[in-house]
Amino acid sequence: MAAARILFLMYLGCPSCNCSSLTSLSSLSLLRAASTFHFNSNLTYSGVARYNTSKSYNSARSIIHEKNKKKKFSKKRDDSNKSKKRDDSGWSARAESLVKRRTRSDKEFVWEHVQRYGSSGTHVPVMLGEVLEVFAPRPHRPPLRSFVDCTVGAAGHSSAIIQAHSELQLYVGLDVDPLAHEKAHIRIHALMNEDCSLASKLNVYTFSKNFKDIKSILRDVDEKFLIHGVDGILMDLGMSSMQVNNAERGFSVLSDGPLDMRMNPQASLKAEDILNSWPEAEVGRILREYGEEGNWQRLQKKIVNARLDGGLHSTGELVNLIQKIFPASGGRNGWIKTATRVFQGLRIAVNNELQTLEDALYACFDCLSSRGRLVVISFHSLEDRIVKQTFLDIIVNKGEEMDGNMKGKDDNDETWIKQKIEGRKGTILTKRPITPSEEEERLNRRCRSARLRVVQKV
Ligand SMILES: C[S@@+](CC[C@H](N)C(=O)[O-])C[C@H]1O[C@@H](n2cnc3c(N)ncnc32)[C@H](O)[C@@H]1O
Repeated sequence: MAAARILFLMYLGCPSCNCSSLTSLSSLSLLRAASTFHFNSNLTYSGVARYNTSKSYNSARSIIHEKNKKKKFSKKRDDSNKSKKRDDSGWSARAESLVKRRTRSDKEFVWEHVQRYGSSGTHVPVMLGEVLEVFAPRPHRPPLRSFVDCTVGAAGHSSAIIQAHSELQLYVGLDVDPLAHEKAHIRIHALMNEDCSLASKLNVYTFSKNFKDIKSILRDVDEKFLIHGVDGILMDLGMSSMQVNNAERGFSVLSDGPLDMRMNPQASLKAEDILNSWPEAEVGRILREYGEEGNWQRLQKKIVNARLDGGLHSTGELVNLIQKIFPASGGRNGWIKTATRVFQGLRIAVNNELQTLEDALYACFDCLSSRGRLVVISFHSLEDRIVKQTFLDIIVNKGEEMDGNMKGKDDNDETWIKQKIEGRKGTILTKRPITPSEEEERLNRRCRSARLRVVQKV
């Protein structure tokens, strides 16, 4: 191929003096362009050689002209892409703020109240006021006699619910993470010891279990709760600050630790197993579908190439790999946001979070009593989409027409309900999700992506 290219170059003459010297500068660039053109075309070498000089010169000239035009065009396109990107980010920020304006909680945020039930050292419960409001005792509502916290964590929400509901007779707290469960167990029992009136009438059960097993857990507690249902269920998804802040768990982009990411440290699959031994296409799918990462292909290649040097074994090594591809720290394609998306994708895969969530939503709804409520707080769009779709599916029963319609302002005393969707089996009380108040967002940055949705059984 190289020899053919040289022969071809020698065959072409200098465009100005008709000589065949290859030293003329202008002809060199023309020749380079021409050779590229011909070798890229479908012509064979002999076909190229038969070209006459002037034809070659003309075509080379037109190629250079085209090239310059392309360069100019691509510069223009780059400029317009840059301004489009600026416009896009401006537009998406405006769109986000518009959506937020529509969905923002109008409940007053009381920081002292939140501090009573959580601390930055452990975990600050998100949208606590809103959760309490959904379950608040009201004349037209059945009392909250039984409650399951599917994600008890540091027991912030749970402690507040227990203290706000003297009518509560059964409390069940679940967490898949045994460390979180142990903390929550101690905290809830301390609460009971402080208040003798609580201890006398409230039955407390806590389990280190996955919320997808809610039915069998309730059966173990008392079969009657499975038959008649419980009055309230809460799912506050994602990780607690205790988990994120512990580098050994491998959830944090900002601290070095093992590539673990298991919510339940007794589970077998770790993030490093995926990165170092899963098929390349699966790694790509996780980055694309669970991380929603636009540059998934480049990352997939680099991750799989790293296997040749022994693989990735710490969060620091993974972050370094990302930093090498995306050195800027700010912006959507900066290493921080990219690493956050990559970590999200891996965490979802390690814990099979999306399928678990979907299955658990159906199971939780089945476990509600009549007019019982299920509250879900999610932290990213993949989760929120599942909550939204599953709620719709649950209340209308697959394949059937929706039995209700969009409602305007609710006519009862629950002012937090803006629009509902009624179905045969239940009512979605949040046609749009509720998002944290500006004040809460300002004081607790970790809550900024929270979305709260509520469904009520008929
Ligand atoms: C955001 S924290 C909950 C914080 C809690 N609401 C509080 O106020 O302290 C989420 C918790 O859910 C737990 N979790 C995540 N997936 C789970 C699952 N499938 N089953 C049970 N618990 C889960 C995590 O281990 C974590 O402790």
